[in-house]
Amino acid sequence: MEFQALPVLETGRIKLGPFRYADAADVYAYARNPNVPRFMPWTTHIKLEDARAYIKRVMARHEGDYCWAIRIKREMNEEGAATATTGRLKVIGAIELDVQKESEAEVHFVLAEEWWNKGLTTEAVRTVVTWGFAQYPALERVISRAVEDNAGSRRVMEKCGMTLQGTQREKWDKYPEAVELCVYAVTRAEWCGG
Ligand SMILES: CC(C)(COP(=O)(O)OP(=O)(O)OC[C@H]1O[C@@H](n2cnc3c(N)ncnc32)[C@H](O)[C@@H]1OP(=O)(O)O)[C@@H](O)C(=O)NCCC(=O)NCCS
Repeated sequence: MEFQALPVLETGRIKLGPFRYADAADVYAYARNPNVPRFMPWTTHIKLEDARAYIKRVMARHEGDYCWAIRIKREMNEEGAATATTGRLKVIGAIELDVQKESEAEVHFVLAEEWWNKGLTTEAVRTVVTWGFAQYPALERVISRAVEDNAGSRRVMEKCGMTLQGTQREKWDKYPEAVELCVYAVTRAEWCGG
């Protein structure tokens, strides 16, 4: 399998690119909100250091695991999404495409709560899945998994043309009971309209 460097991808409203250490405060701002990781395996950040550690892990990602910071373009945020002095665009979430084997990849995503329900994650998923199919000719399907009760996440998958394949149970340290995950997938033929 040939691995690619993390590309910068852009849509009308967002820019997807690498995380920087300077993004820790932005990550902490959304990851400290318990509503954000409610349906994810990680726990709410309680200090800035948690966000720094997350960024460090992302930067040390293994080959084939692409994690983009989702940056909101300036014009979307009247309060100034860009840091005046650096021109750095504010990070409002993350999206990951993990090409686990030649034929299959999994997509994961998270967004700051104040930006929910504006179609931004759907925009990001479409962008990285399109990139994945183009970059990996042997990639046959992209999957995504969401906790059964995570209606917003499941809706993103459906809007991206993914269909429910089944469910699986997984034990996360943070909850005493196993969670029920809905597994969604889209094939290359479905994605590329062939
Ligand atoms: C899940 C998440 C990424 C969605 O991001 P988003 O940018 O709000 O997604 P979009 O705006 O593209 O689409 C959300 C869709 O879900 C719908 N939705 C949201 N909450 C819903 C609910 N409780 N019930 C039914 N539909 C819901 C929205 O109406 C929208 O659908 P529509 O466009 O048909 O109206 C975001 O809510 C999030 O970061 N949540 C916390 C982290 C998380 O759970 N990540 C996913 C792990 S699998």
